[in-house]
Amino acid sequence: MELANRVSELTPSLTLAIDSKAKALRAEGVNIYSFGAGEPDFDTPEHIKAAAVEALGAGFTKYTPSSGIPELRAAISEKFKRDNGLDYKPSEIIVSNGAKQSCFNAILAVCGEGDEVIIPAPYWLSYPEMVRLAGAEPVIVQTTQENDWKMTAQQFEEAMSPRTKMIIINSPGNPTGTSGSGRAPRALVEVAADEEIIILSDEIYESLTYDGAEHVSVASITPEARDLTITVNGFSKAYAMTGWRIGYLGAPEPIAKAIDSLQSHSTSGPCSFAQKGALAAITGDQQCVADMREEFNIRREYIYERLSAIPNVTAVKPKGAFYILANISKLGMTSTNFADRLLSKANVAVVPGIAFGDDSVVRLSYATGLDVIKPGLDAFEEFCKTL
Ligand SMILES: Cc1ncc(COP(=O)(O)O)c(C=O)c1O
Repeated sequence: MELANRVSELTPSLTLAIDSKAKALRAEGVNIYSFGAGEPDFDTPEHIKAAAVEALGAGFTKYTPSSGIPELRAAISEKFKRDNGLDYKPSEIIVSNGAKQSCFNAILAVCGEGDEVIIPAPYWLSYPEMVRLAGAEPVIVQTTQENDWKMTAQQFEEAMSPRTKMIIINSPGNPTGTSGSGRAPRALVEVAADEEIIILSDEIYESLTYDGAEHVSVASITPEARDLTITVNGFSKAYAMTGWRIGYLGAPEPIAKAIDSLQSHSTSGPCSFAQKGALAAITGDQQCVADMREEFNIRREYIYERLSAIPNVTAVKPKGAFYILANISKLGMTSTNFADRLLSKANVAVVPGIAFGDDSVVRLSYATGLDVIKPGLDAFEEFCKTL
């Protein structure tokens, strides 16, 4: 059967390939130390679960408005004001099935045939695929470990063409772990504003910053930026709610309206009672977020110290999210080859950097307990010493 070009051209997910290999080994009884997880290992806090259960009990089980329930959009509008200094009216906020759908909606609404979208690498692997699915072309800009994985305004200008429609910025970043004003220095935002390039700012890891790094929303950097930026966020990472599938975006009204229309004809509004859980998350006590961040921080310190002590492996201490990139380029292997051999010889699962557009690194997630991280790093270190 002949399928549409748009699906046959999709890159198969390397993350899933490693994951299925790890699962197959586990099924054979092998103890695998997995650093592959893209989700917190914690359970969703009780008060959030209770709100969803209550909503179910009260029969809150019908379709909601496609842009989300009004009380959640109002609470998100408040949150943007309180935490990000951003003024988005509830009508400029669209709630979706995860930040992933928010990103996809934003790209579909803004980009099409003939457009180019600038993406700094290493990138979250769905961005280029989403851009291609929209019929546009990703333009990848390589950032470096030496420059803290940040794209400079000069690199941005060099990548620009008359066809540039959007730039995607992700800070705190997956897989880089950069944070602060992170990948969007003021100069870069000013260039985008001069050229009227839309900025998609994916801030899903906002609540996970360390060492005093302060998250800065791109839309708040200059007044012009607010009118050109689509700010994406969600509940998956901050509240350990990956399976609930609730994310959102704030965008200037015409873009928000277009996205509402797009969503109304594709998925409609997200799950009704999951939205009630999200409302409890965003309006409730935020201590649960601080507690999870503290635990991630302990693991981050540990994993960074251990990786830095391995000969010929280097890493930048991450300031955000729950990932660290280990540079393995001095070990003389591609990232896929390294990840493959590490899994079969040392039972350690990591994601090859080539999946994120950088073959010199592998990604380790510390969204897993120290009971896995410690022996996993012992095995990682032993393996590197054999090379
Ligand atoms: C950078 C980034 N953006 C968006 C998402 C999607 O999050 P959600 O679970 O809200 O769809 C992820 C998930 O891994 C991510 O790493």
